[in-house]
Amino acid sequence: GAPSAAAASSSSPVLRRYYSSESAPERKVAVLGAAGGIGQPLALLMKLNPLVSKLSLYDIAGTPGVAADVGHINTRSEVSGYAGEDQLRQALEGCDVVIIPAGVPRKPGMTRDDLFNINAGIVQSLCTAIAKYCPHALVNMISNPVNSTVPIAAEVFKKAGTYDEKRLFGVTTLDVVRAKTFYAGKANVPVAKVNATPSANLADEDIKALTKRTQDGGTEVVEAKAGKGSATLSMAYAGALFADACLKGLNGVPDVVECSYVQSSITELPFFASKVRLGKNGVEEVLGLGPLSDFEKEGLEALKPELKSSIEKGIKFANQS
Ligand code: NAD
Ligand code: LMR
Repeated sequence: GAPSAAAASSSSPVLRRYYSSESAPERKVAVLGAAGGIGQPLALLMKLNPLVSKLSLYDIAGTPGVAADVGHINTRSEVSGYAGEDQLRQALEGCDVVIIPAGVPRKPGMTRDDLFNINAGIVQSLCTAIAKYCPHALVNMISNPVNSTVPIAAEVFKKAGTYDEKRLFGVTTLDVVRAKTFYAGKANVPVAKVNATPSANLADEDIKALTKRTQDGGTEVVEAKAGKGSATLSMAYAGALFADACLKGLNGVPDVVECSYVQSSITELPFFASKVRLGKNGVEEVLGLGPLSDFEKEGLEALKPELKSSIEKGIKFANQS
């Protein structure tokens, strides 16, 4: 169909009730890697979210400063900074949502898989702590390579006996944010009116170019930053959007749907990114891909071998170490 306006939920009197801080339940949210390039603006955006009552900022160093700074903002949540592993327990206890942007980012010329050797161990140790201190939290994994770090988290939780596939999410929201922005530019429509299912009213060549630009969006930023890291501000925005959707789902807001990389039977692979309906227990339903064009079908088949090997690499790492 034509690009449809996103549901005007914030102007609906019925839904607005859920957003008001007076009636929203207490929710503790932790950001692990909160002193980093993504972590700091994400901490700011989560401080602005009235659904959060406690904001827990954890990193190996630097979080007392970030917490003192963000904590002066006069919004609902109480902010605490935790630095170093001996404070991880306090950072995590009682969490409803844990967002993980901890780990190294790419430099020009690197693939996301080049980050595996460092980030796999970081994610493994953080997830071991989550299994211990807040096993029921929804985990929003940002650390790359997401196609491998989510399977690592799943294996860590399985070993600890706490795995619930409904509570583990790879954050893929930035791809959707980019696709909407690039589509709006190409189709010359107001970006706020673009939903995740744009119409195919563009020429095949335009669709191909938009697909490539979206797939290469991360590299576009890595190259523009020329050695100073990867997307941080747009990622913080995307991460805040996804965490907000998780909180709304937990709070019982109906029809919260976002794309995410989750345990899935949509394809023959054990994890896949698709639309997901969020609810009181996390994933309520993994939605199908819907009708695909020939171009999309080809793309789907082409991605499978690499995704399969990224998943297997993550599983192998978690079971070896
Ligand atoms: P950064 O280097 O600026 O920040 C990372 C932070 O993680 C640092 O503050 C560091 O101290 C912290 N950290 C390292 N080890 C830790 C540990 N054991 N516990 C807690 N914190 C720890 O990097 P960034 O730009 O914020 O990127 C972070 C990650 O997010 C990278 O892996 C990057 O590739 C990824 N990323 C993912 C997406 C996505 O779409 N999912 C988008 C952008 C970036
Ligand atoms: C992105 O797409 O921006 C992230 O995955 C970071 C990267 O390395 O490109």
